Amino acid sequence: MSDVLGNPVIPPDASDSLAVLEKSRATAETFGIPLAVLLEITHRCPLQCPYCSNPVELDRSGKELTTDEWKKVLSELAEIGVLQVHFSGGEPTARKDLVELVKHASDVGLYTNLITSAVLLTREKLGELADAGLCHVQISFQGIEESLADRVAGYKGGHRKKLEVAKWTRELDLPLTVNAVMHRQNLHQLPDIIQMSVDLDADRLEVANVQYYGWALKNRAALMPTVAQLDECTEIVEAARERLKGRLTIDYVVPDYYALRPKKCMGGWGRQFFNISPAGKVLPCHAAESITGLDFESVRSNHSIAWIWQNSEAFNRYRGTGWMKEPCKSCEFREIDFGGCRCQAFALTGDAANTDPACALSPLHETIFKQAEAEAEGETNRFLYRNFAGGTLESENGA
Ligand code: SF4
Ligand code: FES
Repeated sequence: MSDVLGNPVIPPDASDSLAVLEKSRATAETFGIPLAVLLEITHRCPLQCPYCSNPVELDRSGKELTTDEWKKVLSELAEIGVLQVHFSGGEPTARKDLVELVKHASDVGLYTNLITSAVLLTREKLGELADAGLCHVQISFQGIEESLADRVAGYKGGHRKKLEVAKWTRELDLPLTVNAVMHRQNLHQLPDIIQMSVDLDADRLEVANVQYYGWALKNRAALMPTVAQLDECTEIVEAARERLKGRLTIDYVVPDYYALRPKKCMGGWGRQFFNISPAGKVLPCHAAESITGLDFESVRSNHSIAWIWQNSEAFNRYRGTGWMKEPCKSCEFREIDFGGCRCQAFALTGDAANTDPACALSPLHETIFKQAEAEAEGETNRFLYRNFAGGTLESENGA
């Protein structure tokens, strides 16, 4: 018996699929278990970014996995062949047990990355994390100019603190990635953000144009860049890549509304990626819970993570190409982009099995392109800030 990937299927009653993997002498690779996993250990966060990738329905702290449950997850991930974990959130440093979790991850042999807004960190806490075995730090920046950056984050004093923590990171000899989320209201600061990354001695800069689902979809009219802005941004990135070769690696993500072909989201559903939510749900992508009608298995269930990856209904629903409708079904690119993003297809068409409207072959492509252009030229600048109450609209004077 084999699945859509041509892999042997683990019987659904296997409570510990690792044993099954071992028995069949299979490795994680044979089963396509990803090498890196995103752990959203909490949705709590002092920032309120209007493009947050968390679901609009956030997990409350009472639902979060306990320290022991996360440790068990980390051990299991290491056992099934995962090499790298990204501690993320919300804000992962909001959890008091982060040092303990990083230490455990390090003890079981995992490479650890901290994805943080940095505003809750002290020099002492960062030192403790480094001593616990933390391997890498990624800090998000909302801009270069304090007033704008703090306004986007909805958090006064945040930008200054981030600069401080970035400096401590390098003093502790930890590699640093700057994550700059770009949109219409901060794209003009891109050249200075690149220079800031050089000055902070970062190894890598992610120029990540906002992707529009969840909170960002709610804020699309306030965030969507113009085509002209985006073209300029691409030129700036290309020139900087050339100029800073060997000094700063620059990753570049464009908003796919303006593309002709969609992105291969998550490398294809259930192919290269999974993440675990604060409450322990194992998800094919960070926005997967926005798709209604899918049930996601939890690490609190009787199933192992490897079983969930291989056999759960949610992972198999859009895995491979068998689920596709036209135009994807007979398209020559179907195994290249896997029909784009399922979450975007659901958000914009109401059916996750439809072609992602970012694709020029989608009947909706023209409509969303025109909508994006109109919003980019529009007057809406006020943000709906992310919070547990379902969002708060920024006041007229930007406070
Ligand atoms: Fe990709 Fe589907 Fe568009 Fe073809 S029709 S390019 S498979 S999204
Ligand atoms: Fe979920 Fe693209 S964000 S598949």
